[in-house]
Amino acid sequence: MKTRGTTARMRSTVARWSNRMLRPFGARLVPLAKPWDEHFQRWIAKAKQNGMDPNDIGDAEWADDPLPHALERHYLPHIRPESRVLELGPGTGRLTRHLIGRCREMVLIDYSEFACEFLRDYLRGKNVSIHQVSTPRLPMVRSASVDFAVANGVFEHFDPEETLWWLTEFHRVLKPGGTAALNFANLMTPAGTEWLKKWSAEPGSRCIFRFYHPEMMGALACAAGFTSVRITTQESWVAYAELTKAAQAGV
Ligand SMILES: C[S@@+](CC[C@H](N)C(=O)[O-])C[C@H]1O[C@@H](n2cnc3c(N)ncnc32)[C@H](O)[C@@H]1O
Repeated sequence: MKTRGTTARMRSTVARWSNRMLRPFGARLVPLAKPWDEHFQRWIAKAKQNGMDPNDIGDAEWADDPLPHALERHYLPHIRPESRVLELGPGTGRLTRHLIGRCREMVLIDYSEFACEFLRDYLRGKNVSIHQVSTPRLPMVRSASVDFAVANGVFEHFDPEETLWWLTEFHRVLKPGGTAALNFANLMTPAGTEWLKKWSAEPGSRCIFRFYHPEMMGALACAAGFTSVRITTQESWVAYAELTKAAQAGV
């Protein structure tokens, strides 16, 4: 049986080769949309009509994601003006826009071609590199070259093995002593189980969210090599993980 990752990789290879063959005729395949692209497209269209930033519209639509709290408590404390920051799954840059002026450089990674293209325009002139990926691998990022890795609203969609692959890659690219911070869907609160019910539309269909017990996230972080794991839970369906790589090998 093919995995979703294998299918995505095959699609991307076929699309790349097809586009190479179509180039002499001035044509190209339009990329397959990813699940959140229609939200991003709607925010962008609405913002254009009203002369707004699409991310203000996104913040209002996704007000159930406590981003201001996460920024203040879990993300910004890890950023210094000299930091190189990697963000996984920036979407339209709802979080990115709060980080980019506070660090030296950002590396943005998303599997959505639409999001990557939007960000190239939105962040033009900023010290940022943007990479579209189809697997949990970052060959374009050197080992031990990143001070802080962050992902908001991303691990809540990953199956455990995908979480492990990404955490392993975060651990590789972080400098010794560097930190990764992310939020995830916590099943172990009443709000978490309500969130699962709300998003499990019909028997037989898969919920777009993946839920974790906080200890499960901790176990995956340890398996990826992190030596310091801080999990913060609260009443809401969202929990946070702040994971630090040992300052010296083996410590
Ligand atoms: C719910 S959106 C969150 C966007 C943004 N971080 C925010 O908080 O507004 C999830 C983001 O993760 C990206 N994403 C989801 N799965 C991914 C994967 N396997 N690899 C890379 N990016 C992924 C999506 O394209 C999207 O940009």
